[in-house]
Amino acid sequence: MTVTETSTVALEIEGLTTGYGGVPAVRDLNAVVREGEILALLGPNGAGKTTTLLACVGALAPMQGSITALGKPIDKRIERNARRGVTLVPDNRGVFHRLTVSDNLRLARRKGGSDLDATLDHFPKLRSLMNRRCGLLSGGEQQMLALAKALLTDPKVLLIDEMSLGLAPIAVQDLLPTVRSIADQRGMAVVLVEQHIDLALSIADNATVLHHGRVALSGSAADLRNNRESVEAAYFGLPTG
Ligand SMILES: Nc1ncnc2c1ncn2[C@@H]1O[C@H](COP(=O)(O)OP(=O)(O)OP(=O)(O)O)[C@@H](O)[C@H]1O
Ligand SMILES: [Mg+2]
Repeated sequence: MTVTETSTVALEIEGLTTGYGGVPAVRDLNAVVREGEILALLGPNGAGKTTTLLACVGALAPMQGSITALGKPIDKRIERNARRGVTLVPDNRGVFHRLTVSDNLRLARRKGGSDLDATLDHFPKLRSLMNRRCGLLSGGEQQMLALAKALLTDPKVLLIDEMSLGLAPIAVQDLLPTVRSIADQRGMAVVLVEQHIDLALSIADNATVLHHGRVALSGSAADLRNNRESVEAAYFGLPTG
């Protein structure tokens, strides 16, 4: 990995507490993601991963603490953050099932965004599926499309929620290295929520494990890879030693 400590901070979460109807679902979270870095956000169901991503795009306001993206605080107006390059790939993939791949991509294009050809270079398989309705794609192909749509907006901070939901590990094995190379090439900061722990740790720079809305473990992906027992313990909310 070529990223150094001197790279520019793209996303900074400081003392974030946020949740629903005044009830915190994430408490006192701190995280920094630099340009070109991938942070894996891990943890069991209900740990607060999606909640964190929603706060990062401005869909949930902080109850305490702050989130800064690209040098500015996250705005309450989601579209403003999106225009500045803070993009969420939701866990339902956000593709239109009745439309073709081509139409989905056309809808995602925007002035000043990335070139379609360059984007499709990352997902060559999509080129042969352009006229197919999305509802007829495999889960992995739909996920490629969801990522391609997000990339067309030229994101600087990309938040990916459970890309692998419903996918075979083999499909994830193909997709995650693509995310890694896009982050490297574009200097894009990525927060990757992922259930496949080992795959996520194999491509991430850093990782944070949430449990019941709190950080149970955090460190470099390399350290966590070498200390899988601590990761398991953090999942169960046990002391990580
Ligand atoms: N709209 C909501 N209203 C109230 N509580 C919610 C809402 N969405 C999530 N929660 C609660 O917030 C907590 C964190 O949920 P969150 O969706 O962030 O978890 P997660 O880590 O993404 O889990 P999963 O792996 O199942 O997607 C859970 O206790 C959940 O029940
Ligand atoms: Mg979730």
